[in-house]
Amino acid sequence: MSRRTLSPMLVLPIGMLAALAGAYRSPHHPATTLPADAPVAPARPAPTIATRPAPPAAPQPPSLASLLADPAWTPAADLPTARAAVEAALWAGPDSRADLADTLGRLAMARDPRAPALLACLRDALRLDSDSPVLVALSREPGRWLDAIDADAPLAQRMSELSTYFDWPDRPPPEGRKSNLRPLSDAEQRRFDAGERLYAASCAGCHQPTGQGALGIGPSLVASPLVAGPALRLGLILIDGLEGPYRMAGLDFQGVMVPAPSQADADLAAILTYIRRAWGNSADPVAPDAVAAIKRRSRGKPWTRPELDSVRE
Ligand code: HEC
Repeated sequence: MSRRTLSPMLVLPIGMLAALAGAYRSPHHPATTLPADAPVAPARPAPTIATRPAPPAAPQPPSLASLLADPAWTPAADLPTARAAVEAALWAGPDSRADLADTLGRLAMARDPRAPALLACLRDALRLDSDSPVLVALSREPGRWLDAIDADAPLAQRMSELSTYFDWPDRPPPEGRKSNLRPLSDAEQRRFDAGERLYAASCAGCHQPTGQGALGIGPSLVASPLVAGPALRLGLILIDGLEGPYRMAGLDFQGVMVPAPSQADADLAAILTYIRRAWGNSADPVAPDAVAAIKRRSRGKPWTRPELDSVRE
């Protein structure tokens, strides 16, 4: 069964419905829990910034549960859909991520032949083969996933490696996480803290306090190649803006993002440092001097993604 034949209600996970309604917030991600007195992000986007979903022909994000309900569906034979479903489940929030882990745990326990390919999709999504895999915040301990590891299911070893990068409330930090993170200096840490406040005030309305974005409102900044890539390209987005088509959770959108409200070198350096280090992101911090240098490459109008890709240091 192709995902185009599924009813849209079946394939739109709850988290996404909530995100579409603008209501989605993650209370659980430890790195992003704001103190009670933190500035509240504007509920509505600034009126000058527009984003709209592409025409109705856009595919719906597939839900793993509905794909798996079809015994004839095999991820190995339909990898793009399997990847999109795993990414959609990761994207949709900490509850959906815990559900994903439990679903995979159940499949592993049942020795379902579809489990290995789905675990491989999860491994890719978490960039486990890179120097800095993505950390995944779950809303609860994934009991079924852990059962499968304890039961020494055939996939236990692969699952246990993956769960090194899971976090859930009260889990002590697991050993063996790879990370190329160099600790922030005191000045960089102050910049990060200032960036967290600026982000809450000027970015979280669209990209969400969790950095994971919201469908049709703003893309995820977690594990984003633009955020993790050269500071030059990322800085140009905040200085000149970004427009054009983008994909999120298997859906196509047309977006426009205007320049950041404060163009002070120190403020831009703070926001850049924050988004490059928050939520498991692990790129280098950015200093105000570097922002001043990036400003010399400004062209005064929004960039498109292909144009940014060709910008060289
Ligand atoms: C009103 C909503 C809105 C606000 C506020 C906003 N953005 Fe965006 N942002 C978008 C949209 C929409 C896009 C996608 C634009 C496109 O590709 O066409 C985007 C794209 C991005 C990207 C590219 C990410 C990627 O990998 O695709 C980055 C980085 C980014 N924004 C950072 C920020 C930061 C930092 C702030 C705060 C200073 C901010 N945004 C404020 C809507 C917003």
